[in-house]
Amino acid sequence: MSVPTAFAQAKSMIRALHGEVQARPNFWFMRQAGRYLPEYRAVRAKAPDFVQLCLTPDLAAEITLQPVRRFAMDAAILFSDILMVPYGLGQKLEFREGEGPILEPVRTAADILRLQTESETVMQRLAPVFETVRQVAKSLPLDTALIGFAGAPWTVAAYMIEGRGSRDFTTARRMANTEPALFEALITLLVEATTRHLAAQIEAGAEAVQIFDSWAGVLSDSEFQRWAIEPVRQIVANLQTKHPAVPIIGFPRGAGVHYINYAAETGVEAVGLDSTIPPEWAAKELQPQSALQGNLDPLLLVVGGKPMEDATLRILKALGRGPFVFNLGHGILPETPPENVARLAEMIRAWHHRHA
Ligand code: CP3
Repeated sequence: MSVPTAFAQAKSMIRALHGEVQARPNFWFMRQAGRYLPEYRAVRAKAPDFVQLCLTPDLAAEITLQPVRRFAMDAAILFSDILMVPYGLGQKLEFREGEGPILEPVRTAADILRLQTESETVMQRLAPVFETVRQVAKSLPLDTALIGFAGAPWTVAAYMIEGRGSRDFTTARRMANTEPALFEALITLLVEATTRHLAAQIEAGAEAVQIFDSWAGVLSDSEFQRWAIEPVRQIVANLQTKHPAVPIIGFPRGAGVHYINYAAETGVEAVGLDSTIPPEWAAKELQPQSALQGNLDPLLLVVGGKPMEDATLRILKALGRGPFVFNLGHGILPETPPENVARLAEMIRAWHHRHA
């Protein structure tokens, strides 16, 4: 894979995501800021609730930087949430202790029409998030990249319709099948809002962006093309014309065999693998076209010791010779011992593909 020379001056993480092989794999971890860190819990206690935490730039910037100070990852990820886009659209959102997110469900044409889509209003409601990006960009170490993010339209629509977390999001899938035009209207609205949300993060200083499709795995074969691939393809096309230097990572969790079409058709520079994907398979089938990111099982980071170390070496051996960024297959779990994260970071830093 040839890397355009325009990126030759970029940080190592950005070059890796554009397809350049690095001497040692760069790394960051999904949910690297969060409850497993005592310093996160201390800052969290200062905000009245989670949404306000995301909307207070001083606190959100501090939380973004915490894991980088401790473990020196090659990238920080903005501290915010994928549900801040529905919040920006005017949907009522709260996070209840032990229950996760609760939204006022959007289920009818009238509900969709009530969403605030006036670009200026939405961007104003989310302005503190972009201010957080600006603050973090100013205070990061020189070779640490800043990753922005958004949820993919399917996953965000699923929460908006369901009104809460779910194991299978059947209310949302039912709407997609019984009222496809209505569902499509919501997806179209999210493609636009997500494009603007990501562009504003890039303009504030994000150097790469990740699109989280955490619930891509509940879609059927025929739904996957229409609701997971197509909307992401549109967002990627919109962003790449304006910001070609900013690589886009797509993370279609649970996509299985669809990883092949997803990588080929969405246009993302890098693909995030979940922990069900064999790294040797991904090296052969996906890495020739895409930079890859992943995919240690977050439970092995809780367990630590030899199970974690063996799985880590397997991933490094399979993927570390190509364009690759080490990550987990999903977010860090709250019960993760921080010492295990330190050990993992040390292993990745010590590994070199020429010595493997
Ligand atoms: O460190 C980072 O990764 C950056 C921050 C980040 C958060 N959420 C902070 C958060 C990111 C990138 C997200 C993405 C997100 N949010 C996703 C996609 C990734 C994934 O995990 O699948 C999803 C589905 C959400 C929606 C969401 N936010 C849920 C379902 C929950 C409740 C579950 C939980 O872990 O409590 C949240 C809350 C949330 N978002 C927390 C954090 C640190 C925990 C809130 C707390 O402090 O109590």
